[in-house]
Amino acid sequence: MRMTRERGSDDARGPVDRSTNRSSAPTCIRRPARATRLAARLLLVLLVCGAAACRDPDRAILAGLSAPERARFERGRSAAVPCWTCHDLAGSVDKVGPSLVGVFGRRSGRAPDQQGSDALLAASIVWDERSLAAFLSDPSGFVPGTTMVSPGVRSPDALSDLIFYLHHVTRPGARADTGR
Ligand code: HEC
Repeated sequence: MRMTRERGSDDARGPVDRSTNRSSAPTCIRRPARATRLAARLLLVLLVCGAAACRDPDRAILAGLSAPERARFERGRSAAVPCWTCHDLAGSVDKVGPSLVGVFGRRSGRAPDQQGSDALLAASIVWDERSLAAFLSDPSGFVPGTTMVSPGVRSPDALSDLIFYLHHVTRPGARADTGR
């Protein structure tokens, strides 16, 4: 009987406790606040991720590709990651190698931002899918004396995806300039 009376008096005190002393509020009252905080945090994560997607410099290119092409582009993008140590796609960053913007159709060693080595200039290759594949699979084998020190991309599949990707991203104005 005593227990029942106490519970009864607790119930009666409940609303008073809530308004006068928040820290002693029962957990069931604090839970909605926790859920709201969690929802706010989730929303923030979604907003940040959404903004990151908007900042993807290849967004416009990706939007114009079919699903299989997008997959190919993504594979090429991964294969190209090591290239950005020495090259950029903006023409505005000073790196060891020339910018690759506008490389298709250009003669070797004649990037506007950087003159190539004597070897690359003398080779006077017009860069297209075939010559790029030959060069990128074995740079110093194709152009002896080139200063591009890279083992080359040996896998034919990776090479083909890389060139597909380069074909799209090196077109002047094709992507947002991120300075990379
Ligand atoms: C260690 C630095 C380095 C890496 C990594 C590198 N390159 Fe190079 N690349 C160079 C240099 C330096 C040159 C200039 C070579 C010369 O003048 O002989 C060059 C030249 C080139 C050229 C010829 C540019 C022109 O205008 O004639 C292309 C195309 C190229 N690189 C593409 C790539 C790609 C694609 C990758 C990634 C698979 C890559 N490079 C990785 C340093 C690098």
